[in-house]
Amino acid sequence: MTKRRPLVAGNWKMNGSRTESAALLDGIKKGISSTSKAEAAVCPPYVLIPLAAEKLAGSAVAWGGQNLSVHKSGAFTGEISGPMLKDYGCTYVIVGHSERRTLYGENDAMVTEKYGAAQAVGLIPILCVGETLQEREANQTEAVVARQLDAVLSKHGIASFKNAVIAYEPVWAIGTGKTATPQQAQDVHRFIRSRLATKDKTIAESTRILYGGSMKGSNAKELLAQADIDGGLIGGASLQADEFLTICHAAD
Ligand code: PGA
Repeated sequence: MTKRRPLVAGNWKMNGSRTESAALLDGIKKGISSTSKAEAAVCPPYVLIPLAAEKLAGSAVAWGGQNLSVHKSGAFTGEISGPMLKDYGCTYVIVGHSERRTLYGENDAMVTEKYGAAQAVGLIPILCVGETLQEREANQTEAVVARQLDAVLSKHGIASFKNAVIAYEPVWAIGTGKTATPQQAQDVHRFIRSRLATKDKTIAESTRILYGGSMKGSNAKELLAQADIDGGLIGGASLQADEFLTICHAAD
């Protein structure tokens, strides 16, 4: 069985001044050593990526974007492309976050295209999937996650998951303080991995599946102890260095 290296990625969303972000980056850098078992990454807003690149260069902390255009360049006012993120040293880019899906109308086809655009320039997409509360209550969790996953699988194939990370983020747990129980999360993670395994067992075993949704220092340990949870995608708790580091260390 392939050993999966845990990944803890901070999704800063639309937060942080230059000054606050500089302090946050310094704090995170100080707490992560190159010998840490878990990998740490931050995804700041676009305008703070140059600052992250400057602060984190040569450190063990990676950085990435929160979104990208499907186009490489051109007349697309307000957009940022994969090559631009790459140019600033990004390793990762989040695609299909539920806020992009619900607030900005990104559907499975668009998310699939963004996933491909990321990989085309050597960025590792962090593909977000997850159900709403209504879908969970209607017993649709697996169907929704399968649909979101299958859109990418059918277009880009199982081999593309060698260079991708999945984040299971139940929409009802994002920013609500309501975390999925370790068992609820594990059940969906197991489901995602078994779905990948129907195409390729080895790739399924080596794909990192992160949990996201109100993960914080105090609940990280029991979530990360689950067999199929390989790290976290952290929103609110990634904005404080000590809180974020507690999660990183729990993943070690
Ligand atoms: P949260 O956000 O940790 O604040 O719930 C997670 C996410 O949206 O990625």
